[in-house]
Amino acid sequence: MAKRILVTTGGGDCPGLNAVIRAIVKRAGQEDNWEVLGSIDAFHGILKEPMEIMQLDKKTVAGIHVRGGTIIGTTNKGSPFAWPIKKPDGSWETVDRSDELIQRLKSQEIEAVVNIGGDGSQDISQRLFQKGVNIIGVPKTIDNDLSCTDFTFGFQTAVEVATDAVDKLVTTAASHNRVMILEVMGRGAGWIALSAAVAGGAEVVLIPEIPYDIEKVVAKIRSRIKNGKGFAIIVVAEGAKPAGGREAARESDEAGYQNVRLGGIGFKLMEELKARLDISMRVTVLGHLQRGGIPCAFDRILATQFGVKAVELIKEEKFGRMVAYQHPDIVDVPLEKATAYNLINQDHYLLKTARGHNICLGD
Ligand code: F6P
Repeated sequence: MAKRILVTTGGGDCPGLNAVIRAIVKRAGQEDNWEVLGSIDAFHGILKEPMEIMQLDKKTVAGIHVRGGTIIGTTNKGSPFAWPIKKPDGSWETVDRSDELIQRLKSQEIEAVVNIGGDGSQDISQRLFQKGVNIIGVPKTIDNDLSCTDFTFGFQTAVEVATDAVDKLVTTAASHNRVMILEVMGRGAGWIALSAAVAGGAEVVLIPEIPYDIEKVVAKIRSRIKNGKGFAIIVVAEGAKPAGGREAARESDEAGYQNVRLGGIGFKLMEELKARLDISMRVTVLGHLQRGGIPCAFDRILATQFGVKAVELIKEEKFGRMVAYQHPDIVDVPLEKATAYNLINQDHYLLKTARGHNICLGD
């Protein structure tokens, strides 16, 4: 039976989005007369006048699984439930356009939506589902901070980039006898930082889940120098904070931007260390390099599995679900459970591994 599926990618992009889109198109192509459309820039495309929706067919998606980014665009500004409108005095207000969105889905005869995104996007999925939309969520984020899934795609690629940065910093740090601080992304979760620190063999890793004591970091570097090593690598997550202090962040000046912008902890940390240690230091902020480029094989495979599973759920008419990876299976979970954060808990094996081979966590 003919069916029209709309695909959206929302929030910050990450490697693997195109692999999901391709898998959805390929799996839907196995059904009789199923058509796949993409809304440009998340739900903005369908809410625009005229609408910006593109046909996604075998030709459009050929070979895109190796490309970073998303061929249908994305945004983290504006949700259908809180759409930014500029008032005549230049200030901004938000309006709820969700009913209009639902009307537009009906007018386009769209029977199911696949919304690929992080926690903010899956919150939108859940609210649309509650209003009767046949929707499936697909989790994505380099931060790996969504619950119910062992991993999100994009994360492993980000860890590869961050680990490569640690490896490169080691050689220059060793040549100059320096402390090198690498600031990585991850929002309120330390997954990228902790993984790269273990993979790269950093001396210190500071994560949001464990507020740090600067004196512990200083002691670690001093003992390393005393033991004959003149350099050290510190990986710091952008959301890390000192005990009793706050993370380095600033409000965004972009209208409708949904998050606080984290960043700057690397330089703050260097100032704190410089006040206590007489050693040369430098800071590298890895930034969006972690989000761009070719997805690694793991992320391509996971993304492809998610895309196929999403279409299978549509076929079973099992809506209001998010696809998830629970090793070794690809499963589906209720959307309402999926938006809780997945942070590193004290008992996590990776944290124990870090402690178990002398990486300092600043506590
Ligand atoms: O959520 C993904 C992420 O890359 C975070 O790690 C980071 O804090 C944020 O997005 C950056 O967002 P933007 O691309 O809007 O600067």
